[in-house]
Amino acid sequence: MEAVTVCPSLEALGQTAGCFIAQLADKYVTKKGRFSIALSGGSTPRFLYDALSRPPLSGAVPWGGVILFWGDERCVPEDHPDSNFGMANTRLLSKVPIPSENIFAFPLKMTEPSAAASAYEDMIYDCFDPAEDEIPSFDLIILGLGADGHTASLFPDTSALKEKEDWVVANPVEKLGETRLTFTYPLINQAKHILFLAAGKEKSPIIKTLLSPEQIDSPYPASQVVPVTGQRYFFIDDAAADALP
Ligand code: 6PG
Repeated sequence: MEAVTVCPSLEALGQTAGCFIAQLADKYVTKKGRFSIALSGGSTPRFLYDALSRPPLSGAVPWGGVILFWGDERCVPEDHPDSNFGMANTRLLSKVPIPSENIFAFPLKMTEPSAAASAYEDMIYDCFDPAEDEIPSFDLIILGLGADGHTASLFPDTSALKEKEDWVVANPVEKLGETRLTFTYPLINQAKHILFLAAGKEKSPIIKTLLSPEQIDSPYPASQVVPVTGQRYFFIDDAAADALP
């Protein structure tokens, strides 16, 4: 099952996705006492974070029960302009009453990327306390979509695409000249709700592929995001919907 919501502007996209998330958070915190989310980097999610940071949505989310991780991160300090944590902290976390103990940023003080990835996997393990051989299931994973079909930091022709065991890996991205830290498909696909945020005409052919039977054979890394039992949601703008019937 999946749902596609087409919005007339980036502001509307942020507000609509934010409303969906606020309702989901309220449902899970009421039922389970907590709501676990993995955030995304990129420019499109900023509109979501801005919408969640101010009324009415900032007052609709039960922040005390929200548990935050990141689906990917750059190997930079938290105050670096490229930091996904830094962006979300500036636009959202610094403006809402989420307890600091609920916020789990990548441990980037560790200089070695694979050590940071492994440590983050341990943080996820401790937070979810899965049974043996069980993969933790995030209530919501938010994903952006690159013009090359990447999502999180799963870029075309990178080693992380082949990872079948680890939940979080260091992923050297040659075309960026850097190593990224990223969730892998086994962890992403275990989520109960996977929410893609995409805007711009250059994303429209990818969105069309992701919503078609050809998805699984496509070269786009995002096409391998196939929830095991969860659901995919797409919040896109008119331009990104351009190739849809
Ligand atoms: C990152 C993101 C990345 C991003 C896409 C889309 O760390 O950069 O996780 O996957 O979501 O590149 O970015 P835009 O929304 O800016 O197009």
